[in-house]
Amino acid sequence: HIAGPCALVIFGVTGDLARRKLMPAIYDLANRGLLPPGFALVGFARREWTDEDFANVVLEAVKDGARTKFRQDVWERLAEGIRFVEGSFDEAEAFQNLSETLATLDNERGIGGNHGFYLAIPPNAFPQVLEQLSASGLAQAEDGQWRRVVIEKPFGHDLESARELNAVVNKVFPEDTVFRIDHYLGKETVQNILALRFANQLFDPIWNAHYVDHVQITMAEDIGLGGRAGYYDGIGAARDVIQNHLLQLLAFTAMEEPISFEPLNLQAEKIKVLSATRLAEPLDETTARGQYEGGWQGGLPVVGLLEEEGFAADSTTETFAAITLEVDTRRWAGVPFYLRTGKRLGRRVTEIAVVFKRAPHLPFDKTMTEDLGQNALVIRVQPDEGVTMRFGSKVPGSSMEVRDVNMDFSYGQAFTESSPEAYERLILDVLLGEPSLFPVNAEVELSWEILDPVLEHWAAGGKPEPYEAGTWGPPSADEMMQRTGREWRRP
Ligand code: BG6
Repeated sequence: HIAGPCALVIFGVTGDLARRKLMPAIYDLANRGLLPPGFALVGFARREWTDEDFANVVLEAVKDGARTKFRQDVWERLAEGIRFVEGSFDEAEAFQNLSETLATLDNERGIGGNHGFYLAIPPNAFPQVLEQLSASGLAQAEDGQWRRVVIEKPFGHDLESARELNAVVNKVFPEDTVFRIDHYLGKETVQNILALRFANQLFDPIWNAHYVDHVQITMAEDIGLGGRAGYYDGIGAARDVIQNHLLQLLAFTAMEEPISFEPLNLQAEKIKVLSATRLAEPLDETTARGQYEGGWQGGLPVVGLLEEEGFAADSTTETFAAITLEVDTRRWAGVPFYLRTGKRLGRRVTEIAVVFKRAPHLPFDKTMTEDLGQNALVIRVQPDEGVTMRFGSKVPGSSMEVRDVNMDFSYGQAFTESSPEAYERLILDVLLGEPSLFPVNAEVELSWEILDPVLEHWAAGGKPEPYEAGTWGPPSADEMMQRTGREWRRP
């Protein structure tokens, strides 16, 4: 699929996301031949930059971050369509300039009035930019043209603020032109959950409460929060990644088969399963939160959150969060879904582990199955992308001893095709007008509805429990599992 002629305007081009993810992804798309001829990239920011200055910023970002090999000819073709507009978000005149720049590009490059607006900016600036896009007429498409808006998270900080924000967005852009980014949905391994579940006969018969004991969804990171106080302090781990990435992983894992992968059909199933999902209670026993202290990681000393630059000295922001969810459907009744995430943990790993019940009977001598755990299907989202099946196998030798072994599928070994970066896939989908991989407003609001009670519970009292950097989180996270006779996997 190659997108039709269009321009993409990025607000927030001086930010981290634009530099690390968006600019390299756009180059990679160009390099793979997926951008339309005449494509234009317009940066908007409060800098005294010329088009050329901005092009140089993009070039550096591309050289640092692109996945594909640098090719001068590809770059030169892309650079021809790069423009910069100087201005701040509340400046009507700057939006007038943007409008003129786009009109000129429409003529020069045959773009035909198809414009996307990417808001890679802090959420408190959304209303201002949306208002200006509306007032300047930029949001308004004429017949045969399209206008789309791309919104980065966080989409609100609770249900109420998400609703308010959405009202502002939909006043300017109709829902079918709004693309809310959850970059986890751009990951190959996340889309593969659908292939694994719905292209095979093997898993579905056991994908339910009769056979599944529980599900663990882990998103662990080893990085700390240095340099991110402005965004993260007061937000915390649950809002940062559980509300979006982890609940989307849960939805893909737990939903029913959609009648097709048409956006409406896929959304319908996600909305249904999220509507049936709620926190297990009492929250004191079914959730845990933590904040990292100094420690060692990768052989180097690292500081605790409170010593990171920019964080309030008495910050109660959690850097680790774990919750227990129940999905009230026939398929999942009684199966807990445990979600956890944290910064400065043992290593970087995201995985979904579907852990099965024990065999109802073991006709072995007890001493022969001491090393036999529960069967598990583990979807390794990253790194080392793939799927592992764990089951018991006879240990070679004269006795009937049984021990866990792994059967492994690894992307690196099975495929020669390389995975596009998540942002590459998602930006292309925006240009194509393909909304399947973008959560709709209902999903965003349902996710807040699920999470709000625990956010309120945490806000009402106490501090997150400290944990040492480089470990797997606070003791309360382990206790939360032990209470139900289970334990976290150590990936
Ligand atoms: C972002 C979060 O959405 O995802 C970050 O805001 C987090 O805190 C990042 O580090 C992780 O993304 P990935 O693709 O590296 O797992």
